[in-house]
Amino acid sequence: MLKSIRAQDAILGMYVQSFGGSWLSHPFWKAKFLISSPDELARIRASGVEVVIDTVRGCDIASQPANRHRPPPAGRFGRAGQVRVVDLAQRSTDVVKSLFDDCRLGRTVDTADILSTVDDIADVLIHDLSAFISVTRLKSKDDYTYMHSVAVCALMISLAQELGEPAKAVRELGMAGLLHDLGKVAVPDDILHKSDPLTAAEIAEVRRHTTHGHDMLSQTSDVPPVALDVALHHHERPDGTGYPFGLKGDAISRATRMASICNVYDALTSIRDDRKGLSPMEAITAMEASTGEFDPGLLFRFMRELGVYPVGKLVRFRSTHLAVTMPAVRDGLGPAFRTFYSTVDTRFVPYEDIILSNDRGNADAISAADPAAWFSADWPTMASSIVEGREIGRQDAA
Ligand SMILES: [Fe+2]
Repeated sequence: MLKSIRAQDAILGMYVQSFGGSWLSHPFWKAKFLISSPDELARIRASGVEVVIDTVRGCDIASQPANRHRPPPAGRFGRAGQVRVVDLAQRSTDVVKSLFDDCRLGRTVDTADILSTVDDIADVLIHDLSAFISVTRLKSKDDYTYMHSVAVCALMISLAQELGEPAKAVRELGMAGLLHDLGKVAVPDDILHKSDPLTAAEIAEVRRHTTHGHDMLSQTSDVPPVALDVALHHHERPDGTGYPFGLKGDAISRATRMASICNVYDALTSIRDDRKGLSPMEAITAMEASTGEFDPGLLFRFMRELGVYPVGKLVRFRSTHLAVTMPAVRDGLGPAFRTFYSTVDTRFVPYEDIILSNDRGNADAISAADPAAWFSADWPTMASSIVEGREIGRQDAA
């Protein structure tokens, strides 16, 4: 979404789409870019011109973050926080790039750098998860694989924390996310960056990045077993449609099922020069609809962690009510729900709309619910009735 703002209201992390007035009146030879340095920001503010920002590609002026899911308010801790987020995303991407370069050149990989990057990312996610994920959505064609590795690392850490994993496991899962695509160093660049459809032979070559990555990491000291597992299996799918082995169900480890969710979510939401990318809601809705490709329990926890749910999903609210997820009310607000059924009295109740802020305590208010366990009616039809505010009857109960 494009918004016109005053130059003095610009902040780090905004994506500049264009400037008002003639190009002579602003200090940049380029028009479209992410404001990623204090120097760029200072020059924009000093210009005094009107700035048009793209709120899909970067921060919004209206962001009013108050918790770990949103960047903190500008003017207090906000701008420093945004500088930190953009800077860390870039530094982490540089670390991954040099790691890939070392592997290409057959040099020994230093895992200390990787662990230190994982720790830095985990640290920034405590306050700035949403901002960090938002910044890592923006990828240039050349840096795509490196920034994608950073984004998957962040999503893995975040999901592992949502699942209550101990600190050591969170760190190792973050490392697994950072290293999951290392095998792509063995795929020729002309295949990796090809914009035309790949041939069958090229697809087979790309798919070999899983075994290449596993082999490379096996020869590197201090790499935890979970990182080897994730590198080899992150394209496996519970329904057996994945690769390299077509494993099914429980034959795929939980760490790998987590990684496949984080990997696909980032791939779908990535914004590149040649591709707009899906919104978080569109990506989650598509993943929920692809039955069998993702572990449904883990996907629900992933939604809960991000505070993004597909519209019309049945959830249990504070254990006492059933609710349907509603369309977002507006940008910047948390997920919206409509309660309609009391699980205590086992009866339908008048609709009540609730908007949650995205803090951890509130996320815990929502748990998964299976429509078939509660209602005999066709759930999609019933859900759209509730979402549209129409009456539903007692005959819908199981
Ligand atoms: Fe991959």
